[in-house]
Parts: sequence; C-alpha cells; structure tokens
Amino acid sequence: MEKKKIFISRKIDEKGLKMLSEYKSFEVEMNSEDRVLPRDELIERARECDALVTLLTDKISADVIESLGSNLKIIANYAVGYDNIDVNAAKAKNIVVTNTPEVMTQAVAEHAMALMICCARRIVEGDQYVRDKKYKRWEAELLLGPEIASKTLGIIGIGRIGSALAQIAYHGFGMKILYHDINRNEEIERTLQADYASLNHLLEHSDFVSIHVPLLPSTKHLIGHEQFKIMKKNAILVNTARGPIVDEHALAEALEDKKIFAAGIDVFEFEPNPVAKLLELDNIVFTPHIASATHEAREAMAECVAENIIAVLHDRPAKTPVK
Ligand code: GLV
Ligand code: GLV
Repeated sequence: MEKKKIFISRKIDEKGLKMLSEYKSFEVEMNSEDRVLPRDELIERARECDALVTLLTDKISADVIESLGSNLKIIANYAVGYDNIDVNAAKAKNIVVTNTPEVMTQAVAEHAMALMICCARRIVEGDQYVRDKKYKRWEAELLLGPEIASKTLGIIGIGRIGSALAQIAYHGFGMKILYHDINRNEEIERTLQADYASLNHLLEHSDFVSIHVPLLPSTKHLIGHEQFKIMKKNAILVNTARGPIVDEHALAEALEDKKIFAAGIDVFEFEPNPVAKLLELDNIVFTPHIASATHEAREAMAECVAENIIAVLHDRPAKTPVK
C-alpha cells in the first residue's frame, strides 16, 4: 500500500507526532530545524504530500497550494488564527483547512488578563526599577496604577477567547463587562450581566479594552487614531489577537501623548517587530506572541492537528475545519 505522506513545516509538540507515527500507513516528515522554511523550500519538501501541518509563520498562498501537487487533502494549521492561509484557494481544490480552536482558549484568556494586570500594576517597570538598582526605600507615590476590581472591561469579539476572559474578569475581579461583536451573545449577557455595546460606546466607557477578533479586511486597523480619541485617558488596551487590528503608529502616538494609560501587546502589526517608537515608551508591555504558550495548550493543539489529519486521511470529516 502506498503510504500517505504528512509534512510538518516545523516542530510541534511530541504528542501529535506520536499519534501520527502510530499509523503504519503514514509517512511523517518534519522540518526539525529551528527555522521557518522559505517558500520554495517548503514547496520542495512538502510536494505531493497528502497532509501539510503549518505554523502561523508559514504563508500558504494560492500559488503555494497550487505548487504542492494534487495529493493534498488537508492543511492543518497549528494555531487558532488562520489568516496565514488562503482558505478560499484551498477550498477551490477541495482541500480542508483546520485550526486548533478551544484547546488554547483558556491559555490566551489568561494571558490577556496577565497583560491587563501587568499594565495596571506596572509590573515590568517595577522589575526594571529593581534591576536598575533604583529602589532605595518605600515610596508612597512610586509606580501607581489603577485597581482592577469593579472597573469596566470592554471585550471586542466575544467568541471562545473573549468569553473566557469575561469569565475570569467577572468572577475573579468583579469587573463590569461590555462587549462588541457582529453577533449578540445572550449567554454572556445572562450569566455575567454583560452588556452589548457599539464599538464607540465600548471604547468611550471601558477602563480596559481587550481584542479577541480574527484578522479580516474588516478588522484591520479597527483601533486607530479615531478610536484612541474616544478612549478614556486611564484606559489600558490589550491585544493578544493579531497585530494589524491595531494601527501601531496610532498606538505609539496615543501612548506618547498619554491619550490612554498603557497597552499590553502580544502581537505586532509587522511581525516580529513593533514599530520603533513603541520600544522607547515605558507605558507598554510586550510579549513575543506567546498568549497560547502553555504546556497544556501546545500539547492539546498538537493532538487536535493529529486528530484532524487522521480523520481526513481516512476519508472522515475533520474535527475542527475552518468555515
Ligand atoms: C496564535 O496566534 C494562534 O492563532 O494560534
Ligand atoms: C477563538 O478561539 C475564539 O473564538 O475566540
């Protein structure tokens, strides 16, 4: 029997590899080097594969899909976001695209909360202050920031991750939840006393704003100059979704002019580099796109990737196909 070839563009958690290698009918090949494969090399190595596992650093355009040959049945993205893949081009060739939703929801929601706390309580500035040996004695006015309890959290995008953050914020901190989305979420309204709001109303009334929408043409620069003008002066903006949703030049200006209090960002408009001006500011906390980086999430993401591939290569429906 001819083996089905699975190509993995870069190392994923062992668990997924193990699940795939248990099938004698599969031949698993992986780029185990610590680098992203350039386009041509990816095509070369993945050519005529039946399944391709991608990371969000792999840009899978229509012409890449075309060049991979006619055996390809599934592109399994090791991520929840899939803006790196031309899903329509895949669909046109009957190739299923899958992502890893649900399994990383809690990890990302916890990270968004962590950034909120870091910004409010100025954890990173405090750390630097100690390292720089500036801490001489207790100071009553040192590194003050807002308390979180009872403040209003505006959540843009109330899908799985946005809802998980709402739970943490409501149950853990007694925050008032406002949300904006293209759809109403009645369960959140009922169970967390959350209120639906227009984007402008949310920005105008929130002390914390956290973004949880996918990157789409309609969400690019959703937050820019106009939006920063509306936000509260004490507001903290958190982005763990995709960088281009925020206009980073506008963010730099807003932070510099103190139009908002601070920002915590895990994703960048021009990955992997924040715009230069942001790096000079104290009222911003960066993390290097690690919102889903828990041991639990990575293992479950790899498991989800493997389950999708096993299903599709056995002519069964994928577990988590993207729409
Ligand atoms: C990470 O950004 C993901 O989309 O999984
Ligand atoms: C992603 O998993 C979301 O729905 O927020």
